[in-house]
Amino acid sequence: MKNGKLQVGIIGCGNIANTKHLPNLAKFPERVEAVAFCDLIAEKAEKTKAKFGTPDALVCTDYHDLIRLDLDAVYVCTPNRSHAELTVAALETGHNVMCEKPMAINSAEAKRMLEARDKSGKLLTIGYQNRYRKDTMTLKKLAQSGSLGEIYWAKAHALRRRGIPTWGVFTNKFEQGGGPLIDIGTHSLDITLWIMDNYKPVSVLGSTFDKLGRTLHGDEQGTEGHWDEKTYEVEDAAVGLVKFENGATVFLESSWILNTTCQKQAMATFYGTKAGVEMDYASPDGGEGTNRKLVINHISAGCPAVEQIYLEEPENASSDLIFNYPGATAECKTWLDAISGKGQLVVYPEQACVVTQILEAIYQSAATGKLVEL
Ligand SMILES: NC(=O)c1ccc[n+]([C@@H]2O[C@H](COP(=O)([O-])OP(=O)(O)OC[C@H]3O[C@@H](n4cnc5c(N)ncnc54)[C@H](O)[C@@H]3O)[C@@H](O)[C@H]2O)c1
Repeated sequence: MKNGKLQVGIIGCGNIANTKHLPNLAKFPERVEAVAFCDLIAEKAEKTKAKFGTPDALVCTDYHDLIRLDLDAVYVCTPNRSHAELTVAALETGHNVMCEKPMAINSAEAKRMLEARDKSGKLLTIGYQNRYRKDTMTLKKLAQSGSLGEIYWAKAHALRRRGIPTWGVFTNKFEQGGGPLIDIGTHSLDITLWIMDNYKPVSVLGSTFDKLGRTLHGDEQGTEGHWDEKTYEVEDAAVGLVKFENGATVFLESSWILNTTCQKQAMATFYGTKAGVEMDYASPDGGEGTNRKLVINHISAGCPAVEQIYLEEPENASSDLIFNYPGATAECKTWLDAISGKGQLVVYPEQACVVTQILEAIYQSAATGKLVEL
């Protein structure tokens, strides 16, 4: 704290830092200031500081210089490969850490992060902003109230028709650990486990596909521009079937490129003994805007009935779907409250670690053709 304001530092000054964390931190100028910026590319750190930092903010290319400072929180916004190294280093130097999703590239690294958190006594959370959306929060309360009964089956949706990321290193297997499964499947699975409140997976069967991403598509453009087929190294779609200790089952589907018109992302469908719930978009034009609805299928007066709950996301409304993060303002406020001792976390790293463990098992099952027991 300095002058009554939390001091935060950013490692990785790319897309997620500039379009989610920093614009949302800027909504709380009386509570927090960004005082340190690190990126391997100095110009990116400079540019980000100029837009969001204090005049005397540190700019550096080596994260050791940033974690040497006395900060209230460090944001890890680099590609997946370095999440564990940077998070552990920041925790070991006494910092709270907001790490971007996925928690880590594999479960061994995620467990290392948990151990470092335990030793440090500091807070660690993961950037799963979709939990804070109004539809997700409403659904969580419904599930907690018992009105869905026992949720014994769910489908986690992370499908894009043509949405291969074209910036950064998203199609580089070493840097990211995989494609759509670890990138967007992670959000859907996180929501699903959280709503079900079920973190005891026992077995996983998975398949990955590389049918379209590496194939020449001529001038075809994805929603994020044309991708480079020649450097495309990751799967372009993946599915997993996860069984839990209590018999509950989750089917996870993910793609960046798939011949489908159904493009549900960061959403899930739940089947409970008292009611089923479908999460869906609810834009006036029928497209994929930020507004959502919950379609609840239950029994009323002895007959099947359907109820729809519409939820708007005004604070992040934008026509720019690529860089639109519904739930991000609430994520930011929850984190500031938690590190100020004024509130609890919503995303606990123990939960994110189970998500990572399941994603890793899907990749393992796809590679071996066998069921993976956890
Ligand atoms: N929460 C979400 O919905 C969401 C959305 C997009 C990305 N992400 C996550 O955010 C992370 C970054 O993605 P992005 O889209 O911002 O990528 P990006 O490529 O735009 O930015 C990453 C930045 O990190 C820098 N960098 C890499 N290694 C570094 C290191 N060791 N030290 C300092 N800087 C380093 C790169 O130079 C780059 O500027 C990924 O883990 C991704 O999964 C989350």
